[in-house]
Amino acid sequence: MAQARYHITTPIYYVNDTPHIGHAYTSLSCDLVARWHRLAGKEVRLLTGTDEHGQKVRKAAVALGEDPQAFTDRISDNFRALVETMHCSPDDFIRTTELRHRQAVQEFWRRLRSRNQIYEGVYSGWYAVRDEAFYEEDETEVGADGIRKARASGAEVEWLEEPSYFFRLSEWQDRLLRLYEENPSFILPPTRRNEVLSFVRGGLRDLSVSRKGLDWGIPVPDDSAHVVYVWLDALVNYLAATGWPDSAQQESYEKWWPADLHMVGKDILRFHAVYWPAFLMAAELPVTHQVFGHGWLLNRGRKMSKSEGNVLRPADLVERYGLDPLRYYLIREVPFGQDGYISHDSLVTRCNAELSNGLGNLAQRSLTMVAKNLGGTAPVAEAASEIVAPLLARTAGHMEEQALHLMAEEVWSEIGAANRFFDEQAPWTLAKEGKQAELAAVLAETLERLRLFAYLLYPIMPTSCRRLLVLLGDPAADTPEGEGSFTFSALETPLPSRQLPAPKPLFARLEEEDEAESKE
Ligand code: ME8
Ligand code: MG
Repeated sequence: MAQARYHITTPIYYVNDTPHIGHAYTSLSCDLVARWHRLAGKEVRLLTGTDEHGQKVRKAAVALGEDPQAFTDRISDNFRALVETMHCSPDDFIRTTELRHRQAVQEFWRRLRSRNQIYEGVYSGWYAVRDEAFYEEDETEVGADGIRKARASGAEVEWLEEPSYFFRLSEWQDRLLRLYEENPSFILPPTRRNEVLSFVRGGLRDLSVSRKGLDWGIPVPDDSAHVVYVWLDALVNYLAATGWPDSAQQESYEKWWPADLHMVGKDILRFHAVYWPAFLMAAELPVTHQVFGHGWLLNRGRKMSKSEGNVLRPADLVERYGLDPLRYYLIREVPFGQDGYISHDSLVTRCNAELSNGLGNLAQRSLTMVAKNLGGTAPVAEAASEIVAPLLARTAGHMEEQALHLMAEEVWSEIGAANRFFDEQAPWTLAKEGKQAELAAVLAETLERLRLFAYLLYPIMPTSCRRLLVLLGDPAADTPEGEGSFTFSALETPLPSRQLPAPKPLFARLEEEDEAESKE
């Protein structure tokens, strides 16, 4: 039987800017989902990459006096470094300046053209370089500073009047509405689905899909005076990375397309939930199963972005707190889908309470007793813990809807219950009273629960959970990274008797702000 597969993508990030915590947040959420599905026994493909064409990137290169290709090579490397910094596990990294991508975009264009979905005209209207987006007049407003801006993003717009190719988007309104209706989870979360629905119901105009006189982009086939509009260019990356349209890679395309999930921030939901499915249907290609538009990380009440000057750099945060606490905090703190505030204080408080005290203490207390009272030989549970099946089912349910924070919350609440169980059973009293069988049973149950938590939290904190699995003597800890060679199904069988390594604390306590400052 063919193994189930799961294909998830991050947005491809613009290379006009070095990565910040907002980019890291999206990539982290995708990494979590990918690792989860690998643990569920699926063959997973996680795709990420960089978006390198268009006026905005060109402008950034010119401002630094650099050649656009040299500039994009350099900045794209920063996004590759982000993968390492955040310990993400992509299977492929695509750049839109690669040949495979250019060929896919040009073939995609030809398909649209040959189906009479693209025609020549003249665009006159507003354009925001920062968003690389066209706006209707009523989507813009003139600010107190006299500058006209897009209302949704605050990006400055300029008037554009130039020959352009258009995509017949207006013809796809009904088909799109039917797609949303027939697939209620095509756009998640539901609030954002409603926003997209009302946008489409409001009527769609044909979309300009080329720019004339711009030299940094993919030439339009048979008319090199134009380059392909950067969003049409960018969206095709998802398809290009499967190998499409290369006939030598037909098998890979058939295996991986359509993708299961495009994870994006809400700022670019319209491109993924309206334009992209319309392009695909018009090209007579299958549409991705799901698009999730998550919220923004805010700093001082504003979306974190380079233009707001309020960005936090992932590498700085990792250095300060450690990677796994940062990963845990971002997932646990912000209800996934909504906007969220992040702060030093709440990170330190949460990680100390839940990682250092909650999970770390449970491991330390139980493993120390195994070392002291059982000579380091782990006791064997008679059967899987009763909490295994229901917790796996509940967390899997949340993951179906990308409710990443609820998955983490379920685990956290069971960690609390496991700590209470340990206290109530008071194994130290059982040891004192010489009740060896009862003592072994309590410790065995606790170790199996810890093992369950290690598996479930592995997608969030791969390094720490692997260390916990080592301490628990689980052979899963020896499997190579990212291959999905250990799966949730192993939890059905308790671990056999084994000798454990000496217990070691899992999480360091993080320092409160003033303690940290007084040391500086
Ligand atoms: O839009 N909070 O690239 P981009 C949360 N190239 N997420 C954030 C964020 C924040 N403050 N800031 C950025 C583009 N993001 C296009 C995409 S895809 C075919 C082309 C994340 O570099 C979030 O995922 O502007 C957002 O959608 C994405 O970065 C935008 O990255
Ligand atoms: Mg952006």
